[in-house]
Amino acid sequence: MAVLFRPFFSIDDPVWVPALREALGDLDFRVWPDCGDPADITAIVGWEVFPEDRNSWPNLKVILSLRAGVERFLSSPHYPPGVKLVRMIDPGLTEGMREYVAAFVLRFHRDIDRVETDAAAGEWPSSIPVGAAQRTVGFLGFGHLGQACVPVLQPFGFRLRGWSLSKKSVPGVESFTGPESFESFLAGTDILVCLLPLTPETENCLNAHTLGLLPRGAYLINAARGRHLVEGDLIPLLDSGHLGGAALDVFRREPLPAGHPFHAHPKIIVTPHISAITIPQTGALIIRQSLETILGGEDPPGLVDFAKGY
Ligand code: GLV
Repeated sequence: MAVLFRPFFSIDDPVWVPALREALGDLDFRVWPDCGDPADITAIVGWEVFPEDRNSWPNLKVILSLRAGVERFLSSPHYPPGVKLVRMIDPGLTEGMREYVAAFVLRFHRDIDRVETDAAAGEWPSSIPVGAAQRTVGFLGFGHLGQACVPVLQPFGFRLRGWSLSKKSVPGVESFTGPESFESFLAGTDILVCLLPLTPETENCLNAHTLGLLPRGAYLINAARGRHLVEGDLIPLLDSGHLGGAALDVFRREPLPAGHPFHAHPKIIVTPHISAITIPQTGALIIRQSLETILGGEDPPGLVDFAKGY
């Protein structure tokens, strides 16, 4: 049994290779293109699949994704049939998502952008703030990452709700399940946090109709995938005042092109897909644990259900 790493990003060789080498310890670890005998390779670790992956590895059993979102693997024509896929559930990445979501929920809740602009313009208005208990934060996609944000936001007193396809019971969080509850979920959400996996069903789910169901002045945080949002629908909703602001970490095209209207819009905050990055030290240990689980004949956390698409 050998584990092959397929580098993709510039930090892979200096950062990921040593982290994986250390975590995988005694396992036979190889780095593309030094693969040795292709018949030895039973597991691949990486960010993508490549054209050779479909037919080169006769004994490949599993691909371990370094990404939490696996739509690139699932939609690739190069994905080798019959090979299991495991998405990354990394404590380091989860921590990043918690911080990102908390940062923008609080920024929108306290209307920081407006008051900062007012203060810079010499305005010093006094106003009674909206309490956190009057503000509902709704997680669109309430799996591992959404649930991890709950203990961070709960102490402020926000009302919390989560929408997911399968029922989730989390103390203190109102649960909405399935398409029939989607519209009522949106109708009561003041700060919408999209953390959905990207599937054919969820693509374009943030559009003029659905965002129009949010209460007037609501905010959007998209830390999932750019293809969840119909980009052309967002600016009219912001300009009409229906939406109060949007924090976007993901885009249909990344990097977001320099001239894209999102960059210049005063109510849009663009961040460069940094909300939740897999951290080598913690992520490499997860890869090790997943491999051990698989060698023990069991399914690791994050095993992808191909029918569901995550
Ligand atoms: C980041 O976007 C990931 O999927 O891990």
